Amino acid sequence: MMTKKGYAKISLPPHDTIQEALERDFLETGRIRAVEINPTALVIWDAWESSEALMKSLKDHFPDVPIEREFVPDQDWNLTWIEGFKPLKIGDLWITPPWHRQTIPPEEPMVCINPGSAFGTGTHESTQLSLMMLQKYVRPGQSVLDLGCGSGILSIAAALLGASPVVACDADPQIETNIRENIELNGNPPVDWKVQDVFQLKSYACDWAMINIQKPVIFPLLEKFSNLPADEKANHLILAGLMIEDEKDLVRLLTEAGYKVLEKQTDGDWLAVCATKNVL
Ligand SMILES: C[S@@+](CC[C@H](N)C(=O)[O-])C[C@H]1O[C@@H](n2cnc3c(N)ncnc32)[C@H](O)[C@@H]1O
Repeated sequence: MMTKKGYAKISLPPHDTIQEALERDFLETGRIRAVEINPTALVIWDAWESSEALMKSLKDHFPDVPIEREFVPDQDWNLTWIEGFKPLKIGDLWITPPWHRQTIPPEEPMVCINPGSAFGTGTHESTQLSLMMLQKYVRPGQSVLDLGCGSGILSIAAALLGASPVVACDADPQIETNIRENIELNGNPPVDWKVQDVFQLKSYACDWAMINIQKPVIFPLLEKFSNLPADEKANHLILAGLMIEDEKDLVRLLTEAGYKVLEKQTDGDWLAVCATKNVL
């Protein structure tokens, strides 16, 4: 039997709760590469051959949601996918895919990210909140730890803005190709990255730890911090990937770990917090 060559365009209704569940349970886990957010639909692209399995998982996950699949012939795919990624200005910083970099005014700061297998294209609220706080607080010459670095977007931004040293880690080996190419695309700013679980780090001492992961990692990490001596912990934290309903527990854990909240920012249901160690 001949298999059709092409792609599946899978559409779901554009509701916030569906978008969040897709990002949390399919994007974060690497089962899909991106969610296109259109006014009339949330769109996922997949190879046609594998799309039946993805449709089954989506239907199991969202039993009451209408999900449509449409066949798109091969040649349309690149264009559609590429057109989905446009330059974004977050604070003063442009985030652009490589095919749009020429459109950015040369005097304006820019991070070039090739959307790949790692999380962190700049389109997600938690990345955007982290980038806003990074620009507001991190100063040239300060040391940065980027925990859960994904594509390297936060590390690269920090290094381009003058932070030093910048050390990054992520537990997922699939980030390797993408972070490597993103560092190169930005002229090789000094980012020292490795594939490692955040809980395996020997020390978290630095000026700023940027942690855009989710509650199941951030909360136990803060519990770990509460048992560490002050000089093995970050002086300041930028935490993202949390939801607004997490705030109360987050503040309690931060207090127990010896931090106080400097600022909180929200975008939709997403929460980011900047915190500082009580006694420096
Ligand atoms: C939401 S993404 C953030 C990516 C990027 N820093 C950004 O801001 O867009 C979270 C990343 O944390 C990584 N991660 C999850 N649990 C981890 C752990 N225990 N140790 C290290 N990295 C982890 C995931 O692989 C993923 O790349």
